Order: sequence, then structure tokens, then C-alpha cells
Amino acid sequence: MENAFFRQDCFINGAWIGASGGDTIAVNNPATGEIIGAVPRFGRLETAQAVDAASTAFPLWRAKTADERSEYCGKVYQALMDHQAKLGELLTMEMGKPLAEARGEVAYAAQFFKWFGEEARRIYGDVIPSPWADKRIIVTKEPVGVVASITPWNFPTAMIARKTAAALAAGCPIICKPASQTPFSALAFGVIAEMVGLPKGVLNVVTGSAQEFADEVCKNPAVRKITFTGSTPVGKMLAANAAKYMKRVSMELGGNAPFIVFDDADLDRAVDGAIICKYRNSGQTCVCANRILVQSGIYDEFAERFAAKVAALKVGNGLEGGVEQGPLIDEAGVAKVEEHIGDATAKGAQIITGGKRHEKGGSFFEPTVLRDVTAAMKISSDETFGPVAPLFKFDTEEEAIRMANDTEYGLASYFYTKDLARAWRVMEALEYGMVALNEGIISTPVAPFGGVKESGLGREGSKYGLDDYINIKYGLFGGLE
Ligand code: SIN
Repeated sequence: MENAFFRQDCFINGAWIGASGGDTIAVNNPATGEIIGAVPRFGRLETAQAVDAASTAFPLWRAKTADERSEYCGKVYQALMDHQAKLGELLTMEMGKPLAEARGEVAYAAQFFKWFGEEARRIYGDVIPSPWADKRIIVTKEPVGVVASITPWNFPTAMIARKTAAALAAGCPIICKPASQTPFSALAFGVIAEMVGLPKGVLNVVTGSAQEFADEVCKNPAVRKITFTGSTPVGKMLAANAAKYMKRVSMELGGNAPFIVFDDADLDRAVDGAIICKYRNSGQTCVCANRILVQSGIYDEFAERFAAKVAALKVGNGLEGGVEQGPLIDEAGVAKVEEHIGDATAKGAQIITGGKRHEKGGSFFEPTVLRDVTAAMKISSDETFGPVAPLFKFDTEEEAIRMANDTEYGLASYFYTKDLARAWRVMEALEYGMVALNEGIISTPVAPFGGVKESGLGREGSKYGLDDYINIKYGLFGGLE
């Protein structure tokens, strides 16, 4: 492939390490089914090598001044922006999302380095008024140490950036394990690390067995923190393993986002918000609307307008101009979408647009809207992770809140109203880590991203996101009499 960022070897201790005849993982383009390359199927041994490299780099990296770390992050930001087009192309080829979204993701990723690079200069300590006349109390902040990250295929550049930028800013080296469907966007960070002259061992990328990687980083005493974005069941297993060794964890897990439209909402705005919220990345997003709850007075009108816009979405290979919906990542993704639609229609839901595999074949699926959906259907409790919008009906505000909170998840939520008092009430009543009023996109590097309940632990982005990579040290200075 003609792309300077395309590498098929792993990046460990500042060097490119190939499979050397060992096992590899083939990576395909979900839009065409073509194999675009292969990466090493590394396991515990190579993960341990990366941990050793990161451990060796740790004292040197943490000793850099805040200014120096900030400048490195700034250079990574610039490199991502300078090469946004090439990186976007690589991302679309391995993941399938439309090029405009892929370029947007690269810019989003870059912003994490800009934001955390600036924050590196503001990791302040504290002086606590002492209860003793002859003693003083200070609080200092220190990097937690070597970080291991495990990231998903749906945002292969931004999820690594979100973790890596915070780690580097705080003074922590990192080992990244990308999803096997999308390793190339991760390996591109190795190219960028070389480009900006990041000291060796500070950023490492290991591809291969997630199980072996997780086993090694949980057990290896040099790793002090594990950060994961992915499903709740895997997050629970990782957190349980990490707990055996008392390691810090950040877990960004599954969601079941409600998108509530009240009778008094600006309907045009709500329809547009629902489109972007549901169909960004073809619905393969933890924060995308999984349930659209519409008040009875506007239900029919909303359904009609929304379905008309959904039907007009252009489906195709993300590399082609004007495409708004790419393929799903794989056949398993399509099977889940079909299962949810089948279950819902068997229990009385109606398909008002879409509903089946797209004529383009492969893992393309028609953007779909279902109406008359109820809580008895699988789609109401299970994250679809695909381009299906189920429309639920409610009568009162209390009912909407009860329906919205009726899930073990608590990541993102959205609602549309023009009533200020209702806005406050609903914002407070929603049991979610993130709530957006009259907006369908909530993510930004400057705000704390994260969930409550079974959607995870910790926050990413914002000043709160940096705390997850920092240990607090209490220093007592005595004998001052
Ligand atoms: C995700 O789906 O995991 C993250 C999406 C985002 O950052 O907006």
C-alpha cells in the first residue's frame, strides 16, 4: 500500500519488530473484503519485552520537565494534523468508516495531544495547612508508572490518542494493544513517535493475542495501570484480574444511550441530532443513541421526518466521495443487527425504512428505523452497535426518565426540550456519566468522557482524565522548631 504510515511490524523499544516467520493476523478492508496486510500475532513474550522497554524508559520520561513533555505532545498533535489525509485513508481502509469521518477522527485524536500537552504544565501539587506548628504538609503528583492500553476497532486512532496523550503528559510510558481488526492506525503512532523523536520505549505498539497481552500486563509488576475501551463483559474480566495485583484501571465500557425527544422540542434540530447521534460510524459507537424515546404528541411526525432522512443516507465504500454510511466491521456485527431486527419485528415492531442487508453485499446494511418498539424487545436492553434506530413512545416526563434509566448501563444520554425547568430536572434525573441537551454529539477532549453503573470506571479527556494517570504523594516535613 502506498502510504508512509502503513507498517506491518510492531513498534517495541523504538524498533520495528516483525513476526520473523511466526504467526500473523491478516487484516481486511470491510468494504471490499480484500486483505490489506498482516501483523504479528505476538503474545506474552513480546508483551513482556514491551513492558521492559517501557520500564526502562520510565525514569527518563518522568524526569523530563512538564515543558518538554508538553512539547512532545504538541509535536504529535502537529504530525497528526499534517498527515490527516493519509492517516484518514488508512483508517477508512481498515475500519470502513467514511473518509470525512476518518479525517474527523484523526483531528479529534490530535486534539487530545494538544489538550493534554497543555495540561502537562498544570499538574499542580498542594500545601495543606498543618495541624502542627513544627511540621508542614505538602502534596505532590507523580506519574503512576507504565501504562498498558487495550483499544477497540471502532475509533482506532482516537481511542489510542485519548489514552496515550494523557499518559505521556503525566509522565507515563505506554504499551498499546490495538484491536486485531484495525492495527494499522495504531502502528502509525510508531511512525509518528519516530517522526517527533519520542525517546525509545515511551510508546510501544504490540499486536496479537488480546488474552495473552492482558495476562501479561495484569501479572507483570512493572505495569501500574491498565486502561481499556470495549465491552462490559471483557472490562469486568480485566478489572477482576487487575484487582488481584491491585492495579489502577480505567474502563470505558458499553452503553445503551437513550435519546429523548419531548413534545416541546425543536423538531428539526431533534431529527438532525438523532441522525448524527445514531448513524455516526454506522451506529458502531458506545455513545450513539441505542433507544430513541419520543413523546406521544410528536411521535408520528418525528418518525416520518426521521425515516425520510435516514432513507436518504448514502451507503458505500468510505473511500468514495459523498458516502455517509460505510460497511459494518464484520459478519458478526451484521448478525447482531439482524438478530435485533428479527426479535423486534416478531414482537410487533414495524420497519419503516431499511431492515435488511444492503444490495452492495458483504457487511453493508441498510440504515434502518423501527417504530412501535417496546421494552420487551432485545434491542431495548442490548447495545446494537449498528445502523438501527428503534423508536419507543412515552407519555410523561416521569415515564421517559424511568424508561431511560431502566438499564444496567450509564454512559451517554441525550434529550431535546425547550423548557428550561424540564432541562434541569431531566439532566439531574438521568443516571448517566454524560448528558447532552439539544445536541446529538457529546464527545470532546476537554470534557470528562466516562460512565456510571456498568459502563465503567474513571474518566478520559479533560483535567479529570489526567488524574487517572497520577498518584498523589503526601509529604510531611517535620522538625521545623
Ligand atoms: C466510543 O464509541 O468508544 C467513543 C466515541 C467517542 O469518543 O465519541
